[in-house]
Amino acid sequence: MKNTDLISLFERSLRDLPEEQLEEIGTVIRVGDNICTVYGLSHAMLGEYVTFEGGNSGIIFQLNENSVAIFLVDRSIPVAELETVRRTHTVFQTPVGMNLLGRVIGADGMPLDGLGELATTELRPIETDIPSIMERSPVNESLETGILAIDVLVPIGKGQRELIVGNRNTGKSSMVIDTILHQKGKDVICVYVSIGQRQANLARLVSLLEVNGALGYSVIISADSGDAVLNQYLAPYVGCTVAEYFRDQGKDVLIVYDDLSNHAIAFREMSLLLRRSPGREAYPGDVFYLHSRLLERAGKLAKGGSITALPIVQIQGDDITAYIPTNLISITDGQIFLDTKLFNQGIRPAVNAELSVSRVGGAAQTKAVKKMTRALRLELAQYQELLAFAQFGAELDDISHRQLERGKRAVELLKQPQYVTYSFVDQALMLLLLKEGFLDNLALNQVGPFALQCVSFIKSVHPDVYDIIRSTEDISEDMHKQISGIASEFVKLFVPIQS
Ligand SMILES: Nc1ncnc2c1ncn2[C@@H]1O[C@H](COP(=O)(O)OP(=O)(O)OP(=O)(O)O)[C@@H](O)[C@H]1O
Ligand SMILES: [Mg+2]
Repeated sequence: MKNTDLISLFERSLRDLPEEQLEEIGTVIRVGDNICTVYGLSHAMLGEYVTFEGGNSGIIFQLNENSVAIFLVDRSIPVAELETVRRTHTVFQTPVGMNLLGRVIGADGMPLDGLGELATTELRPIETDIPSIMERSPVNESLETGILAIDVLVPIGKGQRELIVGNRNTGKSSMVIDTILHQKGKDVICVYVSIGQRQANLARLVSLLEVNGALGYSVIISADSGDAVLNQYLAPYVGCTVAEYFRDQGKDVLIVYDDLSNHAIAFREMSLLLRRSPGREAYPGDVFYLHSRLLERAGKLAKGGSITALPIVQIQGDDITAYIPTNLISITDGQIFLDTKLFNQGIRPAVNAELSVSRVGGAAQTKAVKKMTRALRLELAQYQELLAFAQFGAELDDISHRQLERGKRAVELLKQPQYVTYSFVDQALMLLLLKEGFLDNLALNQVGPFALQCVSFIKSVHPDVYDIIRSTEDISEDMHKQISGIASEFVKLFVPIQS
């Protein structure tokens, strides 16, 4: 009898068996490059999680006519030809729970911090339905980053997705880490997803969070550059699933993806290994969907709870028109562009005010800060223009000259060292000093010290003023006058710092 006859005979005899008694079992026919080809899983789904007889597991990434292509989860467990493979009828799942706070886990859900097993048993699939429009609420509550340049120029609201884009070494990670540190005591849970970074970076981050008391409200998910590309691909979805768990408990969550360029590169590598045809910049055609379905999971829910996403993307040569950055810019609600030129001039954080926008966060800014910043963006733009003009040696009239000097002081005020963050009251007060001209007669290197000292003067000598702004989130006209009075008082006390 021919082989085909035998198969059809078998098939016919199986047809009468009830479906639920049948278990589909596949057989490995080829292994290599962390991928294996499996025959026999003809009803398996794309993205399904499967287990191997030898203890390994994998995810189906391609359905062929007679076989499926599977990426292996664990590189240390060998897979042999003819090994059997079982379906699980679900996508990859990850542990979630309150006990994850303070922990560092890999994309496979295994602890990486040496603190023992995770004390949680709940598993959740890493791909889920996104909240519908009706379930969402508009962004109307601010998520303070504590970084003046951001909270003032590109304010972020809870539930927003704000991209951070910049060349290598422009302070992208520092910016989000400062934001995480600033959430202390604010009842915001932070999830940091590290993708394709060096392991040393992770160690530094963990100790930094620990020293600053931020680890207790944070979860770190890491797939470093030495991990399998599959883990790097999975990490953001795992992180998002963990964030969704906290959101479903009614919490506000901040999730950071550092960075999605590495994520896209991992995905490209996987696609090329699967011999899928490469498109623009050798990325596969569905690379847009890779990030859109991830970032659509962020947002604010009407019943409470939110996920604010800060994805990071690295660019080359300040070119934000590359494929992955333009995709991400179109998916997110705005971007913060960190400029190498500014960074090298010592203007740090190097936020480029002209190319940075926040499309929804303005609605979430506190009144106190909003009132003080109304003119700032314009002033900065005028300053840039005048600066170019002045470089030609052009004579400036008095008004332009004053604008130029004011602009210089605004730039100076927006400089902020690492690990130092300001509350919105501090920010409103500093901006008031700028607006009322208290900084105009200072030498440039005294602008920062003066503003900081004046704010702490108000805080310690006039705590009532400080508290009123904090509780009303506003600065009334009377209050404005009162603060100007206090600042004039302080001017006499200020001793310039020698450097
Ligand atoms: N506000 C700041 N003031 C002074 N130095 C800063 C500031 N922000 C970042 N730096 C310094 O700049 C360097 C680069 O920062 P960081 O690692 O955050 O950049 P990055 O853009 O994430 O880099 P990479 O592309 O390597 O991920 C670090 O040495 C950091 O200490
Ligand atoms: Mg970085």
